[in-house]
Amino acid sequence: MKVIWKKEILDEHEVVVDFHDRGYQFGDGLYEVIRVHNGKFFTLKEHNDRLFNGAKKIDLELPFTKEELSTLLEELVLANNLDTGYVYLQVSRGDGIRRNHIFPGQGESEPVLSGFTVELARQLDKIENGVDVVVIPDKRWLNCDIKSISLLGNVLAKNEATKVGAHEVIQHRDGIVTECGSSNVMVIKDNVVYTHPNDNLVLPGITKYVILNEAAKAGIKVVECDFTIDLLAEADEVFLSSTLSEVMPIVEIDGKPVADGKAGPITKKLEELYVAAIERECGKI
Ligand code: PDD
Repeated sequence: MKVIWKKEILDEHEVVVDFHDRGYQFGDGLYEVIRVHNGKFFTLKEHNDRLFNGAKKIDLELPFTKEELSTLLEELVLANNLDTGYVYLQVSRGDGIRRNHIFPGQGESEPVLSGFTVELARQLDKIENGVDVVVIPDKRWLNCDIKSISLLGNVLAKNEATKVGAHEVIQHRDGIVTECGSSNVMVIKDNVVYTHPNDNLVLPGITKYVILNEAAKAGIKVVECDFTIDLLAEADEVFLSSTLSEVMPIVEIDGKPVADGKAGPITKKLEELYVAAIERECGKI
């Protein structure tokens, strides 16, 4: 498999990761997961914009432009002949110098870009029939808007779901619903879609961004506000959203069905609109 390594396309086996890479030692870096359909990126610009915004937030000066990054990512997809799947990319703050919490000085070390591709079909069964979740306290840090590679909080959260055989978690802080372990969450009550506003407590999901745009165009009312776990119990529909999950119905929460336990009509409509948005950019899927 071909990979991106420090701004070049190499064979995976040619890569040598430095022992002192700050990503490896501190989790000091950022990442993105970008969907590919028919060999074409979906929302590449939005993902690159989020990466550059995140870099600004953590004082990380990226050693490439958005255009250079897009070109490299496109070359990688071609090199691996990827049709349907995704690209994972990450940037660590640097390597080659001894472990030190303080950022490397100018010229001491350069951020390390890496990336690989994965073939992955759409998760049609789960998108059609929905998944189950459990509700847990959100124990992560207060910079969840940054797509940091330090994912221990999310890793622990998602494993809470795995322990009880559930697909995902819905997290809350003092009863306020934030997001899932690796996706955003939206709740529908009386034809209104509720979701947590984009602040430091949730990742500004690109899928969420597309859904909110499509909902606005279709006249579906969305309110971005704090809401509590009580709304989950009364909800007509609940769904999660992410690059790899699209609009995925949540049909069971803590062992109890959401409404009648089936994917609801607004969720289905939003998935249809989401697919239409993909097809405008990538062709028929
Ligand atoms: N996860 N919230 C969290 C905590 C996430 O990790 C993700 C994405 C999202 C949704 O973001 P987007 O719509 O841009 O994919 C929300 C990725 C896919 C992952 O870690 O694999």
